[in-house]
Amino acid sequence: MTETLTWTPTVAPSALEQYGVAQAIVGGTKIALYAVDGDYYATADLCTHGQASLADGYLDGDLIECPLHQGTFNVKTGAAVGAPCTVAVRTYPVKLENGVLHVGMES
Ligand code: FES
Repeated sequence: MTETLTWTPTVAPSALEQYGVAQAIVGGTKIALYAVDGDYYATADLCTHGQASLADGYLDGDLIECPLHQGTFNVKTGAAVGAPCTVAVRTYPVKLENGVLHVGMES
């Protein structure tokens, strides 16, 4: 079965300028958007370790540090790379169109 992506506009890249990360809601799901070296990435906003928003975390290169227990994820792959996180966070495709970042979700 072929899955179709629905692209939803979220925020302008300027929203990521200050911290490199921002939150958006796509189809009722909270998403964290990241800017890394001129490219854009998106993951689920909810940390897989607890009830924390990754968009409130600290972005260092391609790693987002959770604000609650300082676990880390690679924002490009979603891989959990720093304890106490062990479960990957879901990633979503991002594209820049008409000056707005669009996040793709299966529909
Ligand atoms: Fe994110 Fe614990 S809630 S590391």
